[in-house]
Amino acid sequence: MHENMKRKKLISLVFGTRPEAIKIAPIVHVLRNQDDIAFHICVTGQHREMLDQVLEIFNINPDVDLSVMKHHQNLSELTATLLTSMSDYLDTVKPDLVLAEGDTTTVFVTALSCFYKKIPFGHIEAGLRTYDLTAPWPEEGYRVLTSRLSTLHFAPTEHAQEALIKEGVSQKDIFITGNTVIDALNYALMYASTQEDVLKQILPPSIFDSTRKVVLITGHRRESFGGGLERICKAIYTLAKEFPDVDFVYPVHLNPEVQNAANSVLQVDQLPNIYLLKPLSYIPFVWIMKRSTFIITDSGGIQEEAPSLGKPILVTRAVTERPEGVRTGNAVIVGTDNEKIVSLGSQLLTDPGFYASMSEAVNPYGDGHAAEKIVSLCIDYLNRK
Ligand code: UD1
Ligand code: UDP
Repeated sequence: MHENMKRKKLISLVFGTRPEAIKIAPIVHVLRNQDDIAFHICVTGQHREMLDQVLEIFNINPDVDLSVMKHHQNLSELTATLLTSMSDYLDTVKPDLVLAEGDTTTVFVTALSCFYKKIPFGHIEAGLRTYDLTAPWPEEGYRVLTSRLSTLHFAPTEHAQEALIKEGVSQKDIFITGNTVIDALNYALMYASTQEDVLKQILPPSIFDSTRKVVLITGHRRESFGGGLERICKAIYTLAKEFPDVDFVYPVHLNPEVQNAANSVLQVDQLPNIYLLKPLSYIPFVWIMKRSTFIITDSGGIQEEAPSLGKPILVTRAVTERPEGVRTGNAVIVGTDNEKIVSLGSQLLTDPGFYASMSEAVNPYGDGHAAEKIVSLCIDYLNRK
């Protein structure tokens, strides 16, 4: 708890998974320099190891940890446990405003709990839509429901703002701020460049061989369970066999469904140029993104980070709520289609003209000052209240 909390307006920051922590961390850093506002950090612990990795990198000590993660947690159980814990948390801390980021169970339940308690809720990264409740699932549902319950909507782009207006959100409650992931990325890039010696101790040595290329892979979407993740892994295997002088680096998400899919396809007949790693802490991960030739991913955050690093991305989803990267030419939607991944992956490794067309560094997602804008808007709101 922070000094003079009772005399100041209090903002609660709530987050629980790896990407939320990365995207809220810049806000924590800005709030630490504000004298006229108090803040309180509540982590739900929806993730454990992957959340703790981020807390350490950004030097964040939560005030409260709800520790809700259970292995193989299902959505109903997680939602129910979290709603009860969040309700108690809000009753105890009584914040004037609650902020959460993104589209996870943590975010939706926090918004719902604030609605029950009549506490204003500010949604960071508001207005992302695929208009398909099955993809990504359950995230698209969480986004729509969260928007309906939010008081303040911090939209990363104009496109996101337009989506909210179309749904009837009043323009006066929407603020285009950019995405705080760019603030976090800039912070990590600064550290990554000074840490190569440390990185050499944790990353496979061949990645530091500048004569070899690196392809980075991540994947965890629930709608790809039951076949999709396996097809992505088979495509990686095919590419790795065809390109022995390229390293395929895959830090595997800790969700057991993802672990099973990756291990079943890629470890049985493993090739020396495929590296299945544990999830990487943010600084080494950003370093590898920068080092990579291109990225195969279904991640939301990586779709936002890759364009500013000039890295082509093959997006292993049916549809994306981040069309900006597709428009700038950095991203191509490939679904979980084995042949498409292999053919576009091969082209990126062999056709310099095609590679150049997808690798121009552009940044549709923000100027690296989103956190300052969000904090300043929150202070204005609380002063008006
Ligand atoms: C969650 C979010 C998803 C987000 C992703 C980011 C939901 C429903 N899903 O998916 O929107 O894109 O995080 O990575 O909110 N586990 C661990 N340790 C960890 C993290 C997870 O062991 O640090 C395992 C546990 O067995 C857990 C399982 O993964 O039960 C699933 O975790 P959960 O947060 O429910 O879903 P994710 O697939 O991680
Ligand atoms: N990331 C990381 N280590 C990894 C994989 C990803 O630090 O091993 C970072 C990545 O740079 C991005 C965020 O985690 O900022 C994305 O998280 P994830 O893909 O789990 O979730 P999503 O963004 O899809 O919700």
